[in-house]
Parts: sequence; C-alpha cells; structure tokens
Amino acid sequence: MDRREALKLMGASLAAVAMAGIAPRTHAAILKDRAKNKKRLVFYFTATGNSLFVARQFSDSPISIPQELKKKDLTYEADEIGIVCPDYAGAIPKIVREFVQKASFKAPYMFSVITFGNACVNVAEYWDEFCQGQGVKMNYVRPILMVDNYLPVFDMNQQMAIDKHTDENLATILEEVGVHKDFIAPAEMGFFNKDMLKGMQDQHFSMTADRLLQLREDRCVQCMTCANVCPHKNFSLADKGVSFAGDCEYCLACVHACPQKALTLRSAREGWPGERNPEARYRHPKVTLADIVRSNRQ
Ligand SMILES: Cc1cc2nc3c(=O)[nH]c(=O)nc-3n(C[C@H](O)[C@H](O)[C@H](O)COP(=O)(O)O)c2cc1C
Repeated sequence: MDRREALKLMGASLAAVAMAGIAPRTHAAILKDRAKNKKRLVFYFTATGNSLFVARQFSDSPISIPQELKKKDLTYEADEIGIVCPDYAGAIPKIVREFVQKASFKAPYMFSVITFGNACVNVAEYWDEFCQGQGVKMNYVRPILMVDNYLPVFDMNQQMAIDKHTDENLATILEEVGVHKDFIAPAEMGFFNKDMLKGMQDQHFSMTADRLLQLREDRCVQCMTCANVCPHKNFSLADKGVSFAGDCEYCLACVHACPQKALTLRSAREGWPGERNPEARYRHPKVTLADIVRSNRQ
C-alpha cells in the first residue's frame, strides 16, 4: 500500500468512526493493544511498592524477582522483556543483579525502568554496563522519580507531600517502550563525580540485618510482618519480639511495613546510619501490604 492509499484508508476509518459516533481511540490505547499481541515479560523487585506500581503499568502480571530466584530454570524468551526495580545509591539492588547474573534472556527488545527518589546520577549507564557484562543487551533504560523511601535522609511525610510528576513521566516511558525506542538515559551527576560514585556503587551496600536494624521491643507484637516482607528470610520469632541476622538487601521493606513502627535504623552513635523520622513510614498508595508479602516472602 502506498502513502496515498494509506491516508485514504485512515480518512475513511476516521469518517466511519465520526459517523458511528464512536470516540477515536487514544494513542495510549492503541499502544496497549499493540503490546497485547506481543509476548511481554516484566520482572520487578520492590520494598515499598513504587517499582511494583510501575511494573503493573507494563504488565497485568509482573513477576517477582525474589520469587523467581527460587526456581531452577531461569530461561526466558519473549518479544519484550522488562526489569523494574529501585535505585540503591546509583546502583541496582543485589538481588536484581543476582537475577540477571543467573538468568538467560532471549528477547529482541529489553527494557528497564529504575524508580528513584531524589538523585539518579548515572544509574542508567551503570545498569546498562552491568547488563552488558552479563551478555544482556538493554535497549532502553530510564529512571523515574517517585517517593524517596531512604529513611536515613528523608522524612516520609515530607516526601509524600511532594508532587513528583510520576504520571506524566510514566506516560512518556510507556509510550517510548511501546514504540521500542532505543535509549539509555544519560547521567545527571549534580554535585557527584564518577570517582565518588564508583566507591558507593562498588560497595553495593553490603549490610547485615543486625548492623542496620534495632527493635523497640516494647512496641513489637510479634505479628511477623517483618519476616513476611523480607526477601532474605532474616527474621525469626524470639522470646521477646523478633530476632534478625544475615545478609541484608538494605531495602527497608521490614522497617516501612512494621505496623507498630517497632523497627528503626540504628542511630549514628551506635553505627551508621540512623534515620530522619522514625514515626513516618511509606508504602505506595496503590500497593497493599499483601502485595509486598506476595512479592518478597521466603
Ligand atoms: C538503600 C537505599 C538506597 C537508595 N539510594 C537512592 C539513591 O541513590 N538515589 C535516589 O534517588 N533514591 C535512592 N533510594 C530511594 C529509592 O530508590 C526509591 O524510593 C524507590 O522508588 C523505592 O522503590 P520501591 O518502593 O519499589 O522499593 C534508595 C533507597 C534505599 C532503600
């Protein structure tokens, strides 16, 4: 069909729509329909729901990385494969890196959306390079600004009051992924430089639960929510309260989810890092506690 015929056909269908009184379909709806004809797999990791909320915009059934890691066979083939996860210190959570190291992906289009709260620095380039090192070619990596759940620096009540323009940015990303745009977001360094970042990113936030957390025993009702949201199975019932130990993702899911606010971060006096407001906690408003448990429970 040449250009003239195509335009004629388009005109005829618009006229038919107008005559039938049907509203023309939006571009977003057309993109969503087009995506339905393709096989798209979307994997995610989340502690407080931002990344799950984003993953759900790309797929009706996004796949939890901590659950997937329990499987032996991590071989995936699809038309489009996406990974959605938070930014941790300009790098990517250990559990997501482990997943990419262990998995084998076959897809003509690979994309990644990284949720962050304040400064994404060069996380897209970092992630692109990491994936390349594992033989995975990312076609598209873009960070998206959301509530910053990093308790040492931010007060959640203040964060939740800030308009981060997530919907507008998400619409752009959905559209770009829908048309298979090739794009790796350039660095936004602010006052950081690459050497400072490399130190942080190389460190990969290695942390243990006992070093990071402290329990306000008088508040703990032993509901075990902390255990249920921990992707590393770090919590167990104790005579009084709960005990915790082991390699920690530093995702803060346990601290944010505790209904009693019984878990806090150790203060600067006892060891790094303390927190800004131990009475303010966060979960994305469209994500339930049951969603976080389903995503992370071991
Ligand atoms: C350990 C840790 C480190 C973080 N580092 C950064 C950072 O360097 N820059 C940033 O903008 N946000 C940072 N954040 C905030 C998260 O990336 C952001 O809130 C994310 O959307 C949380 O996603 P989730 O709700 O899916 O867990 C960090 C959060 C944690 C827990």
